[in-house]
Amino acid sequence: MNYIKFSKNNLSVEKMSALSLTKKYKTPFYCYSLAQLKSNFYNFSNAFKQIKPLICFSVKSNSNFHLLKELKKIGSGADVVSAGELLKAIKAGIQTKKIVFSGVGKTNEEIKLAIAKKVLLINMESESEANLINKISKKMSRITSVGIRLNPNIIGKTNKKISTGGKDDKFGLNKNDCINLCKKINKMTNIKLEGLSVHIGSQITNTKPFKNVLSVIDGIIKKTKINFKFIDLGGGMGISYSKKDKKLNLNQYAKIVNKFIKNKKTKIIFEPGRFIAGNTSILVSKIIYIKKSDKKTFIILDAGMNDLLRPALYNAHHNIVPLVKNNKIMKGNFEFVGPICESSDKFLVQKTFSKIREGDYVGITDVGAYGMSLASNYNTRPIIAEVLVHGSGHKLIRKRQSLESLINN
Ligand SMILES: Cc1ncc(COP(=O)(O)O)c(C=O)c1O
Repeated sequence: MNYIKFSKNNLSVEKMSALSLTKKYKTPFYCYSLAQLKSNFYNFSNAFKQIKPLICFSVKSNSNFHLLKELKKIGSGADVVSAGELLKAIKAGIQTKKIVFSGVGKTNEEIKLAIAKKVLLINMESESEANLINKISKKMSRITSVGIRLNPNIIGKTNKKISTGGKDDKFGLNKNDCINLCKKINKMTNIKLEGLSVHIGSQITNTKPFKNVLSVIDGIIKKTKINFKFIDLGGGMGISYSKKDKKLNLNQYAKIVNKFIKNKKTKIIFEPGRFIAGNTSILVSKIIYIKKSDKKTFIILDAGMNDLLRPALYNAHHNIVPLVKNNKIMKGNFEFVGPICESSDKFLVQKTFSKIREGDYVGITDVGAYGMSLASNYNTRPIIAEVLVHGSGHKLIRKRQSLESLINN
């Protein structure tokens, strides 16, 4: 079900017209649908209902405090990669026994914090990290539950910059190193190996790489004879950003996981980010200028790459739609760009678009994951507001940063 769609010619977020929100909030701003967030979470958990996994929302994809609180209410755990994300997830009410701590470069302080807070698993990515967790745990008189992150050398056929499971990627340990570390951990007195984790990348739309990962994991289980209490399959489930994209067939993935789990006494953990948050939001922006050059028409928005980095960073595709459709269509070489002083501050190229003018509003679609969480103050611009719509109501869930707070340091 889509909660952000056109109703006649007006883009609506649930029962709110997006245009009416521009009268209340200064553009640009992120606008979310709560119903979409919940529906995505329930769709995910429904697809895997046979195995009842622990779903740890990947906080890096969207760390808005209110959204985390909403996800907590419907049973989500959290996948965190920093002290900040851990503390935020805890503050949002997520129980630490539903939090996994991932990341290739956890610091001393972060490990201490994760141990003190008793997270479910610290997913380690190197032998040095295992030694450090063991040492800190000893000092703190604790036995810490850990997982080992496997690098299965499987490429998820996604954008190179969001691929993490190939042998040249910095993440995890290859199969042999993984098996060797499993053996060494037996001699480490203050860590308890409970999990095996993997995450091969993001925006994967085909089940084949996931299936291949499971067979590598089966190989490790056979070799080590360890009955892992948890197998954490990470995130990476792809969504559709355009009509051309197909989204991952979750039911097909669930069948593969159901088969894998048969006869094992293991709890599956997932860390979905994009699948839960991706299509929950639009970035509402105003057209400041329309500028014609020899070959192109630049449509200059008040949102820039500092507000939404994905197109500049990954060449990621996000559709742009007018908040109010005009029945007249314009044809040309339209380039939707932001105001930032970088040529890469470009969102989309289009040959046709609904007729628009300076001062009109547009929505950049499917920006709920890795949108606000990648925002920055580049060009000394404030972090923009986030608005949550629920039915015909709306509320501010992040205040636009003030210019004063920005210029004082
Ligand atoms: C370890 C880990 N888990 C989960 C995720 C979430 O991925 P996605 O948003 O594609 O589901 C990421 C994202 O890169 C990650 O690095």
